[in-house]
Formats: sequence, structure tokens, C-alpha cells
Amino acid sequence: MKIALLGQGKTGSKVLLNKHHQIIAFDSKNPPTFERLETFDAIISFLPGEAFKNLIPLLIETKLPVVTGSTGFEWPANLDQVLKEKKISWIYASNFSMGVAVVKQMLNKLSQAKALFPSHATNIHEVHHTHKKDAPSGTALSMEAWMNEKCTITSERTGDVIGFHELKFDTGSEKITVTHEALDRKLFADGAIWAAEYLSNNKTFGLNNFQEIIERTL
Ligand SMILES: NC(=O)c1ccc[n+]([C@@H]2O[C@H](COP(=O)([O-])OP(=O)(O)OC[C@H]3O[C@@H](n4cnc5c(N)ncnc54)[C@H](OP(=O)(O)O)[C@@H]3O)[C@@H](O)[C@H]2O)c1
Repeated sequence: MKIALLGQGKTGSKVLLNKHHQIIAFDSKNPPTFERLETFDAIISFLPGEAFKNLIPLLIETKLPVVTGSTGFEWPANLDQVLKEKKISWIYASNFSMGVAVVKQMLNKLSQAKALFPSHATNIHEVHHTHKKDAPSGTALSMEAWMNEKCTITSERTGDVIGFHELKFDTGSEKITVTHEALDRKLFADGAIWAAEYLSNNKTFGLNNFQEIIERTL
């Protein structure tokens, strides 16, 4: 596949390490345009959220499959509908880790068991590098959504931590802890490339969630 990579910073640069596809990067100095994108088979974005959001109209115009890991912005409310009407397939994730997809399944199970523990507290702590712009992280917000309840979320910014998420479910007399730690940013690149390959083999129009796509394949 010929893949246009938007953003070649800490995470995007790991996508460029892939040798199975032809990958060409765009950034502020080399910005994407319709004419430059239309020759590609797919687009992967690891741009900061606002930069990605500003490009959404252009990306729709290309009609190409888009895989985006950008976080820290609000999705346009009608985007899923627009993509479906135009028969365009996108996949997004706040975390392209396959391991986090497994964590989602664990939290779905824990969420179902909430009725057993009428009085409990759920806390999520996330740690990332000091350059991360958004807090709480998109993954922490996803974990809260997977628990289907209001959680106390705390954020810490230190060093070059790639991504640490810990959820504690405390009933007062027992505690369940689920921890996920990202060790190499390559894992996000691998997940995004997997999603681009999935879209080249499967038409799934609209704005699709990566974890839900993974669940379909398990
Ligand atoms: N979903 C996931 O699995 C996952 C994992 C890690 C990170 N992320 C998210 O991915 C995004 C990027 O993170 P990162 O740590 O890789 O960031 P980063 O190191 O700061 O890299 C950002 C890249 O985007 C480019 N860029 C910034 N503004 C631009 C603009 N207006 N037009 C074109 N290019 C622009 C930068 O190029 P210039 O230097 O030329 O501006 C740079 O190449 C964040 O939203 C982060 O939260 C998601």
C-alpha cells in the first residue's frame, strides 16, 4: 500500500520504520494538499488533535480510508453520518495498542459486575511524557467510558513516559487493579498499520472504533 503519514514526530516516526508499505510523511513544513494525497491508498495521522481536526474537510474530500490516532479534540457531531453517506471508511483510536483492546474487554466484564458491589470507587491514574498536550489522556477517558460510570481520573506528566494507565476498583474490603504500560511507541504504529491493512481488505463505512474492530476479529 502507498500510505500518507500525517505527522512524523515521536509516534509517526515509528510508522516510517515499517518496510511492508510505501510510506510518505507530511508535516508543517511539507503540508498535505488534495493533489498530493489523491495518489495514496490510505492515510495515517499522528498529528496533534487540533491540527488533525483542521484537516478533516480535506481528508473527507480525498475519500481515502483514514486511520487516526490524534487525540485532544472534539469530533464533529455528524462525521459518522457524513462518512457513511459518502461511503468512506475511517478508524480512530485514542490508543492503537492491541493490549489496550484486551483491557477494554476486561473492563467491560468489570463494568458488568458493578451491581455486585453497590458501594465502590473507581480511580484511573495515567502517566505520560511532559510534552503531551491533552490531559486526561484519551485512553483514560476511554477507560472511564468502558466502565460506564463516573471515575476519578488523575494525570501525571513526567520524563519520557510513553503511556501508563492504572484503574483501581475499590469496594472498601477488596481492590481490583488493571494496569497497562506501553514500553515502545512502535506498538501504536503497528496497531495503526494493522488498521490501514484492515481497511484495504474490509469496507466498513463510517467512523469506526479500533477496539471494536479488533473485537470483531477475535
Ligand atoms: N492513538 C494512539 O495510539 C496514540 C499514541 C501516541 C500518540 N498519540 C497522539 O498522536 C498525536 C501526536 O503525538 P506525538 O507524540 O507523536 O506528537 P509530536 O511528537 O509532537 O509530533 C507531531 C507531528 O505532527 C506535525 N504537526 C504538528 N502540527 C502540524 C500541522 N498544523 N500541520 C502538519 N503537521 C503538523 C509535527 O510536525 P512539525 O514539527 O513540522 O510541526 C510532528 O511531525 C497526539 O495527539 C497524541 O496524543 C496517539
